[in-house]
Amino acid sequence: MILATLLSAAFYEDEDAWQRGTATGLQEPPLASALFGWASLFALLSQHLVYGRRHVTLLASAGDKVVGCCGLTFEPAPPDVIAATGAREGCDYGLLTGLAVDPAHRRRGVASALLAEAGRLGQARLAPPGMLALLVARTNTAALRLYAGQGFEEQTSWVDVRWRAEAERGKLGKPRRLLLVRRLPG
Ligand SMILES: CC(C)(COP(=O)(O)OP(=O)(O)OC[C@H]1O[C@@H](n2cnc3c(N)ncnc32)[C@H](O)[C@@H]1OP(=O)(O)O)[C@@H](O)C(=O)NCCC(=O)NCCS
Repeated sequence: MILATLLSAAFYEDEDAWQRGTATGLQEPPLASALFGWASLFALLSQHLVYGRRHVTLLASAGDKVVGCCGLTFEPAPPDVIAATGAREGCDYGLLTGLAVDPAHRRRGVASALLAEAGRLGQARLAPPGMLALLVARTNTAALRLYAGQGFEEQTSWVDVRWRAEAERGKLGKPRRLLLVRRLPG
């Protein structure tokens, strides 16, 4: 019950966005099962607890079922992102995390609609020129195509230091990630 109340308050934080979005909307606090399991629900909740009003969770629903989600956190761009993008030091950016669509609802534009809404929120919240960024595994061809179609561009000078450190220790497993950025119209 407490969980539902906290989530509900967090999700309603930007109610206008819910009203505007075509694929987004939430009438009731979601059940854990609708959000791809308890692990996902706790992951989302922890973002709201850590970042407060700087974090928004976008949900896409079909009928009364949540079929897609994505996190968007507004925070100062870290030095590696500033260096790779040439953005102004100290500027805020929007970091997208945890984009996922229910397998039964893929290839119907759900992720595209979530990203479009993230772009609208970014424009509303960030001082121009705003930018959205995300990390994606180099091997995730589906996501890479999606992001390219939505105007995200790879920042080729950015290096996945976590991947490099593990590779240097001879540890293989986690794929190398790429930094993609979409610059928002001013
Ligand atoms: C990647 C993912 C979010 C895409 O969601 P989706 O709702 O199916 O995406 P959309 O329907 O909006 O697709 C838009 C475009 O992206 C590209 N795309 C999406 N899925 C694709 C796939 N499996 N193969 C190739 N291209 C794909 C296509 O260009 C597609 O346009 P089209 O259907 O007209 O060809 C979804 O497959 C998913 O949840 N994957 C697992 C989690 C994940 O990898 N998240 C990304 C983390 S960085």
